[in-house]
Amino acid sequence: MTERLPAVPARDLPVSAHAPGKCIVFGEHAVVHGAPELVFAIDLRTQVFVRNGPVTRLNADDDALRRNGYFRAAVEAVWRDRSPVEVRAISRIPKAAGLGSSAALVSSLVAAFGAATGGIDRPSLAQRSFEIERSAQGVGSPGDTSTVVAGGFVAVNGGPGDPIWTIRGPERSWEVRRVSDPGWVWVVAYSGLPRSTADAVRAVGARLAESDGPELLEEFRRVATEGIDAVGRGDRSATAGLLRRNQDLLREVGVSHPRLEALLEAAAPVAEGAKLTGAGAGGSVLALPMPGKETELVRRLARAGALPFVVRPSPEGTALVEG
Ligand code: PMV
Repeated sequence: MTERLPAVPARDLPVSAHAPGKCIVFGEHAVVHGAPELVFAIDLRTQVFVRNGPVTRLNADDDALRRNGYFRAAVEAVWRDRSPVEVRAISRIPKAAGLGSSAALVSSLVAAFGAATGGIDRPSLAQRSFEIERSAQGVGSPGDTSTVVAGGFVAVNGGPGDPIWTIRGPERSWEVRRVSDPGWVWVVAYSGLPRSTADAVRAVGARLAESDGPELLEEFRRVATEGIDAVGRGDRSATAGLLRRNQDLLREVGVSHPRLEALLEAAAPVAEGAKLTGAGAGGSVLALPMPGKETELVRRLARAGALPFVVRPSPEGTALVEG
C-alpha cells in the first residue's frame, strides 16, 4: 500500500518547524541525469522559528534576503509580499558538507510558511522545497529535499512499489519511493573541506557528456538499482560491495579528492564498505562499519583529520514543532 504522509496543518504565527539532514547511500550525481538514488534522513536537524517582525530577516541579519539565496528563494516562492517575518534558524547539520543543510533549511521554511498560509500537503511540500533549492542552486535533483520531507529511507527513480510522490523539474520528473530501513548504524565523517554542490554537479555533467558518458551513467544506474535492492532486503555484504563500486564510479567522474581517499583508506580495516557522500570534491564520506567496530571506525577517521559521527536514520521527516 502506498504510504500517505501527513500534511503540515494550518497554524497562526508564530510557528516553528524542523527538518532532518540527509545522507546519500547510492547514486548522487547520476540522479541529476535521471538515474536511481538511495538516500536516508539523519538524526541531525535544522529548526526554524517564524514570527511577525518589523522587517523580514534571518537570525537578526537585515540583509539576509540579499545574502542567503535559499532564504530569499523560500520567501519569494511561499511568503511573497505578506507581512514581514523575523526568522531564527538553528542547525546541527554541518554546512557545505554533503549532509543536506540547505535542503533542511528550505523544507523547514516551506513547512513553517505553509502552515501559516493554511497548511500544505506533503507532496506539495516536497515539490516546493525542490523548486526553491534548485532555483537557489541553479542545478540539482529532488533527492535531498524529498528525503528530508519524507524522513526514513527514500529511493528516487528506483525501488519497488508505488511512488509516494513524483517531482516535476524543467527537463524531467523523478519518482520517489519508500525503502525500509535495514536498522544498521552508519558513520559519516566530514573532511572539513567545504565545496560547492553546483560546481561539482556542472563538472560531472560535462564529464558525462563525453563519449563514454552513457556507459558510465548506465553503470551508476546498475549500482544504485542493485544497492536499493540490497538495502531493502537487509543484505550488508552486497551493500558494502556496491558502496565500493559506487566510489569507483565517483572517482572516475572526478569528484573524489585526496582527502576523501585518505579517509576511505583509514576506514577500510574496520568498514565493510565506504564511499564519499553528496556532491564530493570535499564534503563527507559514509561508511558501513563492521559490526562492533563503530567506535574504532570513529577513532580512525578522527585520527585521519575528519569530524566523524555515528548517524542513525531518522524516521521523522519535516514537521512542525508542536506545543
Ligand atoms: O549538495 P550535496 O552534497 O548534498 O549533494 C547533492 C547530490 C547531488 O546528486 C550531487 C546533487 C543533487 O541535487 O542531486
